[in-house]
Amino acid sequence: MTAHAAVAPEKLLAAPDQASQREISAEIGELHAQLRRREQAGESIRPTVFDFPAYRSSILRHPTKNLRLVDPETVELFSPAFGQRDVAAIESDLTVQHAGQPLGERTIVSGRVTDSWGRPVANQLVEIWQANSAGRYIHQRDQHPAPLDPNFTGAGRAITDEAGEYTFVTIKPGPYPWKNHANAWRPAHIHFSVFGSSFTQRLVTQMYFPGDPLFALDPIFNTIWRPQDRDSLIGVYDHDLTSPEWATGYRFDIVVDGPDATWFEPENEGE
Ligand SMILES: [Fe+2]
Repeated sequence: MTAHAAVAPEKLLAAPDQASQREISAEIGELHAQLRRREQAGESIRPTVFDFPAYRSSILRHPTKNLRLVDPETVELFSPAFGQRDVAAIESDLTVQHAGQPLGERTIVSGRVTDSWGRPVANQLVEIWQANSAGRYIHQRDQHPAPLDPNFTGAGRAITDEAGEYTFVTIKPGPYPWKNHANAWRPAHIHFSVFGSSFTQRLVTQMYFPGDPLFALDPIFNTIWRPQDRDSLIGVYDHDLTSPEWATGYRFDIVVDGPDATWFEPENEGE
């Protein structure tokens, strides 16, 4: 019998001076404990912390100064815009964008966009992007040895209806490695953008899938330091949404303001 070495090529592996997962996990635990202590001492701490050293690549790019205020009307003259007519219904089905069917677990992701009072946010542009079922993005920077799927691009758009509901049909993404530390893997996730009514209102977040064994290990997920806030980013399996002989179903509701708001990423973040 021939032994197969199930390893990536040497050149892809982490440099010897990179932290191990054990070290990163210990840092995450210590950072969370520090934040809890600061809150108990009366400090008001935002739901996510910019200064989270376990997320190595964020150290040099997280904001250290107050955000610049822009005049929303001036920005509108230069920024992307969209109208109802710009989004075709078919764009919400990521499994029909090519000649064949993509590989992987076909999945329906549906939810409501509301404000904190439960009022629907209608006519919202919701955009998603994600890796394929093998955990590979169609992106120059993603060259890790997992296959691209010629039948899957991984981007879709939808507009919320009068009840604030959106629905996508897609393929459940795979986890993927990244270079934060040695043997770093991101839990499976779908990136979401909610556009708002103008470009300055755009919000970006990620949806995760329940039961992912990588949650505790991931420094990006854990920049959200309270467990209940992290839970709000995990889609809920919904058997009523699961379609017989066709696709599993997950619900992911998004709250765009107020105390129950879904946690959104600062600008320029999110691997
Ligand atoms: Fe990602």
